[in-house]
Amino acid sequence: MPTPCSDRTRFAGKAVVILGGNAGIGLAAARLFAGEGAMLALTGRNAETLAAAGDETGAITHVADMGDVAASTAALTAIGAALGPIDVLFVNAGVGGFAPVAEVSQAFWDGIHDVNLRGAFFAIQAALPLLRDGGAIVVTGSIGSVAAVPGNVAYAAAKAGLRAVVRIVAKELLPRGIRVNMISPGPTDTEIFKRDAAPADVAAMRSMFADVVPIGRMGSSEEVARAALFLASTEASFINGVDLYVDGGCLELS
Ligand SMILES: NC(=O)c1ccc[n+]([C@@H]2O[C@H](COP(=O)([O-])OP(=O)(O)OC[C@H]3O[C@@H](n4cnc5c(N)ncnc54)[C@H](OP(=O)(O)O)[C@@H]3O)[C@@H](O)[C@H]2O)c1
Repeated sequence: MPTPCSDRTRFAGKAVVILGGNAGIGLAAARLFAGEGAMLALTGRNAETLAAAGDETGAITHVADMGDVAASTAALTAIGAALGPIDVLFVNAGVGGFAPVAEVSQAFWDGIHDVNLRGAFFAIQAALPLLRDGGAIVVTGSIGSVAAVPGNVAYAAAKAGLRAVVRIVAKELLPRGIRVNMISPGPTDTEIFKRDAAPADVAAMRSMFADVVPIGRMGSSEEVARAALFLASTEASFINGVDLYVDGGCLELS
């Protein structure tokens, strides 16, 4: 595995906000941003893991459900007041869920879309006045948005919508010099696919992913997070509006 970029200081003194920063890819990003000198704020729903993430990374934390626009907006406002202008907004929170087309209920659809699309959009909108001109927004999508995976219709549609949001927000923010990009992970070894699954099923899923991912394994949270840090950094100063597949070759090499 590649070594972390802990000797770097791309985010020294920068205010970085991660929505969904207490687990998986978001927590990995929090650790990397903290290691590079960022002043961090994290949100999530789980107060316990959020407090632990704050203790570990030195971040301020706000419990806020991104599906609840009022709560999410209030958290962002409080974060803006505490940190000052936000240099980097990482909109990473997301939920999964599988159901074949015939079995998708309105409640199931809404549960996914309220967080992954509606919540993400209104969080970006709420952050607009708080962002520093010249800053960056990174949004977590999914290769599921462009892959025809049976059972993934509600999630795929939400992430595809989010991809469209990223493109248009990027265009509207050009005058402010704020770059807006997306990372789209492939199968990544986090809780999102293990939640509610029996250990044997988790092992079977890992083995299945090892077969379908051209690189031969799932990605790690840190491998995906590193792509988010790259897009958020000035190293990506000429990259805007893209969707970067961080998927071990799934989309391009399968
Ligand atoms: N893992 C994969 O294979 C994969 C593939 C493609 C895309 N993604 C995307 O990557 C992102 C991160 O997922 P992950 O794999 O790291 O999963 P994870 O380990 O389950 O982490 C999800 C993060 O999002 C937060 N979150 C979820 N719902 C939220 C809500 N309503 N309000 C606020 N925070 C919320 C979680 O906080 P709480 O724990 O407090 O709820 C947690 O910090 C998601 O957008 C996901 O769709 C993941």
